[in-house]
Amino acid sequence: MHIHIVHAHPEKTSYNNALTEAAFEHLAHAGHNVTKSDLYLEQFDPVERGAHYKNRADRDVFAALNEQRHASGNDTLPIDVHREIESLRSADLLVLQFPLWWHGPPAILKGWMDRVFVNGGLFSSRMRYDTGYFSGKRALVSVTTGAPQKAFGPGCRGGDFEVMLWPLHYSLHYTGYSVLRPFVSYGIQGHGYSYEREDSLRVRLKQNLSACRGYLSKIDEIEPLKFPGWSDWDEDGRALT
Ligand SMILES: Cc1cc2nc3c(=O)[nH]c(=O)nc-3n(C[C@H](O)[C@H](O)[C@H](O)COP(=O)(O)O)c2cc1C
Repeated sequence: MHIHIVHAHPEKTSYNNALTEAAFEHLAHAGHNVTKSDLYLEQFDPVERGAHYKNRADRDVFAALNEQRHASGNDTLPIDVHREIESLRSADLLVLQFPLWWHGPPAILKGWMDRVFVNGGLFSSRMRYDTGYFSGKRALVSVTTGAPQKAFGPGCRGGDFEVMLWPLHYSLHYTGYSVLRPFVSYGIQGHGYSYEREDSLRVRLKQNLSACRGYLSKIDEIEPLKFPGWSDWDEDGRALT
């Protein structure tokens, strides 16, 4: 299987980097073809704007969906976007690795989606949800939090992952991916922000890396999350009851 990891963390000594390296090595060792986009290292520009498009459909007004469709159709997508799309096309499984920043992914990852999931090429009015471009492929979110596990859940202090990851998961579903249950690494606190003893934190982080490897080993057994598809809506997009 080909697995592509999109890594969104600015620091090489971070726990996120340790998770990405653990996943990369574990999956490669298991015989998979593993590739990676390191968004900060590559200085991926996450801001969608007209300057990215050399062959504009409209020189006067920048309408992102229009320019994306035009560039997809004419094979003039920005080179960094083209490269990311090629990685996604060839991968059977996409892994997104990032820290929870303000109850969602870091801006660089949101911007990666804004620019890479291009209109025309990767979605259209007919090519989305269960008829999406990436139908048959799977996607997995691996996210780290600062707050401890107990603080997460409906109505809890840290927030509810069903809600916080919904925009990301639903966008992956929109482009056709089967979205797997996320792997969440809780209470990743270092550099003076830890609320537990250094030695127990170290043990817990190590155990969590093993849990991550274990999760990836069983990837074929993980049931995708359930999202509605075309047969669940009427023609206005309202849920059929
Ligand atoms: C800008 C920013 C926003 C953050 N927002 C949250 C948050 O909403 N919830 C949370 O539990 N932790 C939050 N944190 C803590 C990070 O999730 C935590 O430091 C990270 O997951 C640790 O992984 P790392 O060592 O790989 O950076 C935030 C950290 C930063 C820098």
